[in-house]
Amino acid sequence: MYDDGPRPGRNDDCWCGSGQKYKKCHMRKDERMELLALKGEYVLPRNLMKSAADIEGIKRSAEINKGVLDMVGERIRAGVTTNEIDQWIYDYTVEHGGVPADLNYEGYPKSVCTSINDVVCHGIPNDKDVLADGDIVNVDCSTILDGYFSDSSRMFMIGEVSDERRRLVETTHEAVEAGLAAIKPWGRLTDMARAVQQVVEGAGFSVVREYGGHGIGHEFHEDPFVGYTEEMCDPYVLVPGMCFTIEPMVNAGKSDIWIDRGDGWVVRTKDGSDSAQWEVQLVVTDDGYELLSW
Ligand code: MF3
Ligand code: CO
Repeated sequence: MYDDGPRPGRNDDCWCGSGQKYKKCHMRKDERMELLALKGEYVLPRNLMKSAADIEGIKRSAEINKGVLDMVGERIRAGVTTNEIDQWIYDYTVEHGGVPADLNYEGYPKSVCTSINDVVCHGIPNDKDVLADGDIVNVDCSTILDGYFSDSSRMFMIGEVSDERRRLVETTHEAVEAGLAAIKPWGRLTDMARAVQQVVEGAGFSVVREYGGHGIGHEFHEDPFVGYTEEMCDPYVLVPGMCFTIEPMVNAGKSDIWIDRGDGWVVRTKDGSDSAQWEVQLVVTDDGYELLSW
């Protein structure tokens, strides 16, 4: 097989553990993937595709992750520090039996990323950042439950925001919706990328190249890399069972970014313009996709 994984005989038990004969279970899907791989297409190895049991596990994890973001939505307001948000999220996640995936991930010191205005991503919660009227902030949250990862982020507009900030936030949301509409089983991940880019650039904004979405499930970040231009996005075939995030970072000005060398994490727009991001997690299904976390 293209992925060096198992290829049982047609009357043998399927490799997936269903107890069914291979010919009644994964044989035809495997043949389809094998042929695509022979043609030179990008096909994800089968061990990164998610089974029905995996999806159930991810959904339980995502229940916490969505609950966290709902809770943040109810409490967030001007005057709150990003450290307070971090504490809410740590407490909620742990009380519900989960672990914040961000905490200690590659040395990251907090349970969530809070990215305000010109911060593109990986804003580190602290006591000095007090949310003010007119700010836009992304809260990016990830949960581990029973070894399953969920990951999504939302934008929050604090008090009265300018029309231009509101347009940035809303356009970024529309871009994710357009990307989702382009998810078709046996289509291409790059179709999604082009759809996102079109909405973003059509509105006069730009999409960050260096950071993107990712496969997710048993690990926080798996293949593929989910970019939002044809050049940056891994051109995988969208095979049912693939689970990944769509999370474009959209800048009001130019797409260039810089990473703070002091903390090694915080990413900002080079030109100081505002940046917005929404993140959803989905699984490709036989007739489209299912959202798992948002
Ligand atoms: N949640 C981010 C993502 O969407 C990853 C954050 S990694 C951290 O992939 F270490 F900064 F938390
Ligand atoms: Co993510």
